[in-house]
Amino acid sequence: MGPADLEEIIGSLRHSGESSGEKDSPAVLIGPGDDAGVTLIGGSAIIETVDVITPVVNDPFTFGAVSANNSISDVYAMGGRPVTALAIAGFPLCDYEPVVLKEIIRGAVHTLDRAGARLVGGHSFDDLELKFGLSVTGIVDKDRILRMSGAAAGDVIVLSKPLGIGVLTTAFKRGRLSEEEMRPAIEWMLTLNDKASSLASAAGATACTDVTGFGLLGHAYNMVRGSAVDFVIESAAVPVLGLVPEMIGEGMVPGGTHRNLKYLQDKVVFSPGIGDEKKLLFSDPQTSGGLLFTISRDSIKNFEGASLFFSLIGRVEKGSGSVVVK
Ligand code: CO
Ligand code: CO
Repeated sequence: MGPADLEEIIGSLRHSGESSGEKDSPAVLIGPGDDAGVTLIGGSAIIETVDVITPVVNDPFTFGAVSANNSISDVYAMGGRPVTALAIAGFPLCDYEPVVLKEIIRGAVHTLDRAGARLVGGHSFDDLELKFGLSVTGIVDKDRILRMSGAAAGDVIVLSKPLGIGVLTTAFKRGRLSEEEMRPAIEWMLTLNDKASSLASAAGATACTDVTGFGLLGHAYNMVRGSAVDFVIESAAVPVLGLVPEMIGEGMVPGGTHRNLKYLQDKVVFSPGIGDEKKLLFSDPQTSGGLLFTISRDSIKNFEGASLFFSLIGRVEKGSGSVVVK
């Protein structure tokens, strides 16, 4: 999913009947506002999503692999699996050799291979800055779609990757971290959300999204906004990548983090003990972040013993659609 405002614009056009999409078409199961759109075509539920990012690493192959994983993540956030993808590349012809684009595509194909999906085409255009992403089509059992809303009081909140990717990529871009120090963050950005998705689906997850540009708190807020529940997040239980607190202390914080935190000011309730470092960390935009989902307390046993990283970071309580950080 891109910026919420774009989703909101598309949603408002749809509701006033201005978009080309058929209003209230029974085939559209999920329209704008979730991680992806889902449409029923001939008995199959088809997922469609698109995401494009600027480089987070220097190596073009790795960038392509990370960007592809970031793009297919929204399919997993819906409980589905990717099937085909189209590449979208903004390419500054005067700054890069064509071989760079070839390496980016090779990296994307490598990720798609791991996910069991095929690259079937693409489009590139001259641009001032390098950009790359995928438009992805996936499928999902129409009765097992993982929506963004639906968390129930009494559920626990699960996060499947540690936070801090935005901080570390910023520190790397500013020359503060070596390639070696970036390695763990890169490994996480390359980790597919496939297993987290299938386990969440099998465990009957009540709601699910992936943590990307709005940070943990922004995406948590999207899961509760307008609902009769609150998310209560235990700050000490949130997993964090190594070096991240240190890098935040040195001011290695992306602009998006500050924007997210500002936007969330009246939507998130911070306990008095929560310092600026944690507020920034929890607002940090993640590239190819983990899944954030809610399941009943009893379902946690489905995750124990599975070779999946996961942390229980809080619980869902009756409330009024806000996020509380303790
Ligand atoms: Co997206
Ligand atoms: Co998403």
